[in-house]
Amino acid sequence: MGIVDFLRVMPKAELHVHIEGTLEPEMIMSKAEENGVKIPYRSVGGIRNAYRFNDLQSFLNIYYSGMSVLVDRDDFRDLALAYFKRAHQDGVRRAEVFFDPQAHLRRGVNLSDVILGLHDAAAWAMENLRMSIDYIMCLLRDLPEDDGISVLQEALKYRGGVGDGWIIGICLDSKEYGNPPSKFRNAYRIAVDNGLIPVAHAGEEAPAEYVWEAINVLNARRIDHGYHAFEDESLIKLIAEKGIPVNMCPLTTLRIKYFNSILDVPVKRALDAGIAVTINSDDPAYFGGYILDNYIAVYEGQGLRLIDMVKLAENSIRASFLKDSDKDRLL
Ligand code: ADE
Ligand code: ZN
Repeated sequence: MGIVDFLRVMPKAELHVHIEGTLEPEMIMSKAEENGVKIPYRSVGGIRNAYRFNDLQSFLNIYYSGMSVLVDRDDFRDLALAYFKRAHQDGVRRAEVFFDPQAHLRRGVNLSDVILGLHDAAAWAMENLRMSIDYIMCLLRDLPEDDGISVLQEALKYRGGVGDGWIIGICLDSKEYGNPPSKFRNAYRIAVDNGLIPVAHAGEEAPAEYVWEAINVLNARRIDHGYHAFEDESLIKLIAEKGIPVNMCPLTTLRIKYFNSILDVPVKRALDAGIAVTINSDDPAYFGGYILDNYIAVYEGQGLRLIDMVKLAENSIRASFLKDSDKDRLL
């Protein structure tokens, strides 16, 4: 078996993927036509051409505009179905999938259509692909906390147990710089009091201080991205000692220009420091690769050994929110 097939068949969990970031240009075109939504592109090639990013905000502008073609329950089902089929081919057996309710509500889409459509797809993939799937709702951190609290309260009726295909967690995403975790302490308190698991994007573009806050103020059980944590030795030590997993997305960091070279993405550094680092795709339709492409990028680009790759896949299963007995079945 070649190395790519080896990396593909390793059972793995995807713990950092935004379902709206799996919206491929072909689906943007077809849904725009189906739903009569005007878009500023005439072809799939024209859409792909627009995917040149200088920083997080320039990506987010394109990402929010792309999702404007998603309108009803079937659109969300189709979107998620396409992702689950694709991820399954890459050996993903467990997926904990982000979605951005506020980005749809503010366009007039019903929350029930978003969540029921996503659940329809999860139910299909759990039955037919034997995947285990749940959702993590994200609050847009550049909006006021009160806005997040009101959507959270509405979404709580779609909370489920692990493996039910409903919402199990709360996260923060969107423009990080200037929107620290502490801005959302009340929202997270409500979420946790209602049984949601807290995680957060932190240290993606903002300094290590934001990672400290995600851990100390929000009690985040995992850190998403976390690159800037590596500027603070005492933080790295704490993350390793507490066993807080860090979900990295290597291709994102190159496409958004956080790093010039794959060598600079701190995957190997995290492994060497004893951190439970995982590899994920984030927004694969925008950043040019699904989870397997991200595994291949770090394998080839960082000179990792096969045993390191096995460790990364094992970390992903262990860092998931599955019950221990279900993790054991996948390991
Ligand atoms: N929303 C979708 N992808 C994101 C990312 N990489 N960072 C913050 N918000 C996002
Ligand atoms: Zn993300």
